[in-house]
Amino acid sequence: CDKIENIREEFLKLKKEKNAVLMAHFYQEDDIQDIADFVGDSLALAQYASKTDADIIIVAGVHFMGETAKILSPEKTVLIPDLNAGCSLADSCPPDEFEEFIKNYPEHKVITYVNTSAKIKALSDVVVTSTNAKAIVDSFDKEEKLIFGPDRNLGNYINGITGREMVLWNGACHVHEKFSLEKILDLKKEHPDAKLLAHPECKKPLLMVADHVGSTAALLKYSFTDNANKFIVATESGILHQMRIKSPNKTFIPAPPNDSTCACNDCNFMRLNTMEKLYNALRYSWPSVEVEESIRVKAVKPIERMLDISE
Ligand code: 13P
Ligand code: SF4
Repeated sequence: CDKIENIREEFLKLKKEKNAVLMAHFYQEDDIQDIADFVGDSLALAQYASKTDADIIIVAGVHFMGETAKILSPEKTVLIPDLNAGCSLADSCPPDEFEEFIKNYPEHKVITYVNTSAKIKALSDVVVTSTNAKAIVDSFDKEEKLIFGPDRNLGNYINGITGREMVLWNGACHVHEKFSLEKILDLKKEHPDAKLLAHPECKKPLLMVADHVGSTAALLKYSFTDNANKFIVATESGILHQMRIKSPNKTFIPAPPNDSTCACNDCNFMRLNTMEKLYNALRYSWPSVEVEESIRVKAVKPIERMLDISE
């Protein structure tokens, strides 16, 4: 405990000395969220990275979040604590295959979720997050033909609420697809007063029984603005930390996955980040996120388009 406390203090000291900021996604461990300069969803992290005047941005999240920050701020050093912190959803969309796929639809505009590699963003007309996906899809003319990738569940959900028939890439997140509908329905019976909150990366049958569907930021907001006092939360369990901070008197129950041993559902990539790795990354300026300039100049356009629409 003392050791962790010392590392935390050293990290904060070094952060000040080096004019660095720490931004953390809602899926990070509580202790990392607690010392971050900024905690947010994917959209808010991209907005923060585009505006900060720090020299170094430390991204406590996964690789695509670091890449997005680097694409927006190429002159800054962007550090991530663990290079292995990837994303199964981003991995479900290999750039070569996606490039071939979109060639089949030459008249379609390409909309991609931010959970992708820089190369996929470079092939896109606009990037979206789960916070702004509906608004950005709605910003296209009704006649416009659209491709949406890589998340089939989010794409399906957005098709449903916008009345579009976007062509979908067949990708998914292993964390959100693992929730057990059966166990969640049992939990609902046990807690009839609880509302079910679900991230749109979950499968359709779960979304159909949810009381509210939204991005991490939207679910958090709903949890402290709605009158209910109890919530079952179907997204990565890191979000419960901010929910409990915002509503200390409410009850939050993590939705269970379908493997029998776990009571909640964590993203193994997000959870690779530790206080020690944060400290080492800042001390040695490694690992840094780099994006080839020829890719970056193409990838920055659809991200900036998203930020413009989302302001
Ligand atoms: P949000 O944009 O809702 O924070 O989602 C990020 C993510 O990785 C969901 O799995
Ligand atoms: Fe990727 Fe899923 Fe982890 Fe989010 S929860 S970072 S989509 S693997």
